[in-house]
Formats: sequence, C-alpha cells, structure tokens
Amino acid sequence: MIVLGIDTSCDETAVAVVADGRHVLSNEIYSQTREHEAYGGVVPEIASRKHLEILPQLLQQAVSNAGLKWSGIDRIAVTYGPGLATSLLIGFTCARALSESLRVPMTGVNHLQAHLYSTLLDQPHLPPHLFPALTLTASGGHTCLVLSNSQTEIQLLGSTLDDAAGEALDKGATILSLGYPGGPALERAAEGGSTRRFSFPRGLDKSYASHLRGVDPDLCFSFSGIKTSLLYFTQKHRHELQDPAFLRDTACCYQEAVMDALTGRVKKALQKHRPVRLACAGGVARNKTLQFKMASLASQYGIPLNFASPTYCTDNAAMVAGWAHVLFERGCDRCPEDIMPGLSITA
Ligand code: KG4
Ligand code: ZN
Repeated sequence: MIVLGIDTSCDETAVAVVADGRHVLSNEIYSQTREHEAYGGVVPEIASRKHLEILPQLLQQAVSNAGLKWSGIDRIAVTYGPGLATSLLIGFTCARALSESLRVPMTGVNHLQAHLYSTLLDQPHLPPHLFPALTLTASGGHTCLVLSNSQTEIQLLGSTLDDAAGEALDKGATILSLGYPGGPALERAAEGGSTRRFSFPRGLDKSYASHLRGVDPDLCFSFSGIKTSLLYFTQKHRHELQDPAFLRDTACCYQEAVMDALTGRVKKALQKHRPVRLACAGGVARNKTLQFKMASLASQYGIPLNFASPTYCTDNAAMVAGWAHVLFERGCDRCPEDIMPGLSITA
C-alpha cells in the first residue's frame, strides 16, 4: 500500500510517500525557520500562511520524486493533532480534498504517536525483542515518556508540565543571543565548554505534578525554572558574558541541565518499568549530549537503545504515512471529523 502523508502541525510543511509503512519513496520538508527567526519562536499566523503557500508544490514534488503519478496513491494520511490549530487545519483540509478527489481513504494520525513510530523507521539494526519499550520524545512542542507494550498499546508515564525541552533550549539560546532554532545553536556554542562551572536547576516540585491524573509525578518534567534561572544569571553576568569562554561555559552548563532533567526521568522510568529497549525521538534527539547520556543509561541497564534517524527526528511526514500504515494493518485507523489541537498521545 502506498500512503501519502501530510504534516503541518507546527512550522514544518511536510509531505512524504511511503510504501508498506517502511520504504520511504519521498520525504519533502519545507522548514519555516527563516520566517520565524526574527521572532525567536513560531508565530502561528505566519506558519499557517506559509503552509498554505508551500503545500501545493510540496505535494507535487513528493509524488513525482516517489516516481509515481497521483493514481499510484492508495491512501492519504494526515496529522490531526496535537499542534497549532491554524496550521493543522491547512494540512487536514488539503488531505480531505485529496481523499475526495482521488477517491482514496484518509487516515487521521496522532503526531506524537507518529514520533514514536519514527524510532522504528529506516533502522538498520533493530533488536529482536522490541517491546516493552521506553521512549523519550523531546521536541520543540512536546516532551514525554511513554511505555509501549506493543506498537499500539502505549502508556503515558510522564510529560512536561510547562515548556517542552526544545522550547527550553530555544528560549535559552534567545536569552544568550545565540540564534534560532536554539537547540543546534546552543549545541554549537557549548562545544568544548565546561559542564561544571555553573549550576542550573534540574528539579521539579513533585506537588506541582501530583494533581495530574494518570501520570507519575516522578516522571514528569518542568523546564520553566531552568529558563528563569538562566535569565537571572544573564542579568547578573551581563559583562562576563562578553567573554567567549564564559559564554561557552554558560551554554554548556545550561544544555547539560536540560539534558540531565531529561535523562534523570528516563533513569527513574528504567528503574520502575524495566523495559527491554530504550528509544528516543523528536528534534532534541539530534543532540550529541543527549545521545551520549542515553547511551550510558542503556548500557547501565544492559538494554539496546535506538534513536530516530536524524532525518526523522524533527517533524516530517514519513513518520505520519508509516504510522498510518501500521494503524491500517491493525484495523485501528480512523478518519476524524476535525482537527484536535490538544490531542493526547494515548488518544
Ligand atoms: O520535532 P521538532 O521538529 O518539532 C516539534 O515537533 O516541536 O523539534 C524541533 C526542536 C527545536 O526546539 C530545536 O531547537 C530542537 O528540536 N533541536 C535540537 C537539535 N536540533 C533540533 N535540540 C538540541 N540539539 C540539537 N542538535
Ligand atoms: Zn513533532
């Protein structure tokens, strides 16, 4: 089955064509980084207008780069949540129009479940036993820990109570005037720096999370404290930050604090749930410090680790089309009536 996937959940316009859920025939992504750079974050109105402008040509490109004609598409898959409402609407409306005009079915895809699937896409060395698996998804919009007992049986263990990890990196980079998107800029600025010179908070007041039903307060994240402490730090050290070594060490310690906050929860989840595999998805999974820390946890617990491949870490539509295929095979695909911007990963 050939599935054409569309994702317009945030600031990437993405279309992909995937055969049998595994073979990515084309994977087109237009990243709107330049459009949002001046604002230091995603502006929803600009994002949706750009999706509308870019999507038609990206669709054509995806089909022709897959070596197909429109008649070769068997199904349309589209992200219907979670995400920015006005951005989701563009992809969703377009998918519905395509499904009607091509007379093929349409599958609505949960963006976060698609990120989970991205850890299995295009992986040359997957272990024989895949489940139960613990997956950390850390992106610009979401941060959560999920235990999968099978591909479709998933349990949300914990999530962020405020900012996402990528958002903390993006805002941190803005505070330090390092550029946008902040994750890669911060990683570059931190290269060769000391991780011990300054200390930023990694913790979370558990009482803050205790009102959340269904998640484990021990496995929830909070990044607003880290960000605020960096803001106060920069106000206090405005002059010292002119020194490149001081700036490098600050970037390095801040990045270290964000990654420790992530891996600290991963370690607790490993202790509590004893999965047979560890996985990591989302844009922040591209970070070398995170990769190193996750690898050392996996070896400590003697389990295999797999990261989504760099192309499928950040938002893309190959994971959307691939996941739609799995849902279809399991008989649990559905075509929602409308977008759901606040969709939960377990919905
Ligand atoms: O998954 P993604 O494309 O978007 C969402 O679904 O939100 O992730 C984008 C996020 C941004 O916050 C970006 O700063 C972060 O991923 N990111 C990184 C790196 N590359 C992208 N963070 C840390 N290190 C990186 N190398
Ligand atoms: Zn995403």
